Amino acid sequence: MQYFVLFFSFLPGIVYGSFFQIDYPNVNVSAEPGGDLTFEAGIGGDVILKPGAGGTVIIAGTDLRKFIEKVKSLPPIWTKQSVHGSLGAFTSGTKIAVSVEAMDPDGGKIQYKVISGHLPPGTSLNSTTGVVGGTAPDIDASYTFGIRATDQHGKYADGTFSIDIREKDQCISNPCQNGGTCSDDFGRYKCTCSSDYGGERCELRCDSNPFGVDNAKKTIPDAQMSAHYTFSNHFASNGRLHSRDGWIGESTSSWLQVDLGEVRSVYSVATQGYRSSTYYTLSYKLQYSTDGNSFHDVIGSNGSPKDFFGSSSYDSVIKHYLPSIISARFIRFVPLTWHTGGKPGLRVEVYGC
Ligand SMILES: *[C@@H]1O[C@H](CO)[C@@H](O)[C@H](O)[C@H]1NC(C)=O
Ligand SMILES: *[C@@H]1O[C@H](CO)[C@@H](O)[C@H](O)[C@H]1NC(C)=O
Repeated sequence: MQYFVLFFSFLPGIVYGSFFQIDYPNVNVSAEPGGDLTFEAGIGGDVILKPGAGGTVIIAGTDLRKFIEKVKSLPPIWTKQSVHGSLGAFTSGTKIAVSVEAMDPDGGKIQYKVISGHLPPGTSLNSTTGVVGGTAPDIDASYTFGIRATDQHGKYADGTFSIDIREKDQCISNPCQNGGTCSDDFGRYKCTCSSDYGGERCELRCDSNPFGVDNAKKTIPDAQMSAHYTFSNHFASNGRLHSRDGWIGESTSSWLQVDLGEVRSVYSVATQGYRSSTYYTLSYKLQYSTDGNSFHDVIGSNGSPKDFFGSSSYDSVIKHYLPSIISARFIRFVPLTWHTGGKPGLRVEVYGC
């Protein structure tokens, strides 16, 4: 081995007792290409490299101080929750704001990231605060997910956490009225009503809930009113309770029909005569159908088609409960008798749920 030995005699070196000291603005010590540079202390002596305040030691581009810091740094430690932690159970629709927390033993900042699984839909993780926030989804489920806490040196610790979502009991507010029974469903409730009631919350008394043939409501549109053997231009669409005039038929072959739009439970009907002193129906029968093709008579207690009393004046409203509740989409009013010298006029309403 060849060694080049520095010859310091041309430097302003000073020898203090056992020290050889160089004081110079900058000092370069370099070997020639292929040459080695050796600092060698005596037995029991140290080699000391001591950068100035704010300075560092660089070895082939690597900052030795940062490198040592990194080597010595410790990974984060989960603090608030254990590594396998439940962050709680939440009811659908409520606000979620829970946090995970890890600390860096070296005192640095932590970044959080979901690395596996899924947070509940509608929630997110704040990467700087570790807060999982949002609104609990409308579903009954448990969500398990992994979160990685990473410190500024890239050291990390992983934790597995879970959040349980409990679907809200939709029946808790007792939404069903009038003795209806509530059943819980996802995102909604379902009421099973006692026989006289209907509507979403059994709030309707079916025998007095009009489907809306009445001229003041017109929930049933003109297109769902039809008739057979109509007199002159007194069309079916006029045959609405409380309308200005009414529908007028010709004979016992005439009928006025209401299409309810879908099969409903029909409880009662009401009629008036045509708005003129002679055109009112004294009696009628009712027919009903689910498909508009095959019609059945409403049967009375004597086993034959029930004869409903119409009215004894053109304007009075006469309401009848059906002998039993029927399921029907189409209801036909078929005049049987009418005021002498007149024609069978009708204005009608149908009630049910
Ligand atoms: C040595 O010093 C000179 C001038 O001061 C400088 O240009 C050069 O880069 C230095 N060499 C090393 C290896 O630092
Ligand atoms: C995370 O939380 C901090 C502090 O509350 C907030 O300033 C920041 O906007 C949040 N970040 C996101 C992405 O919401």
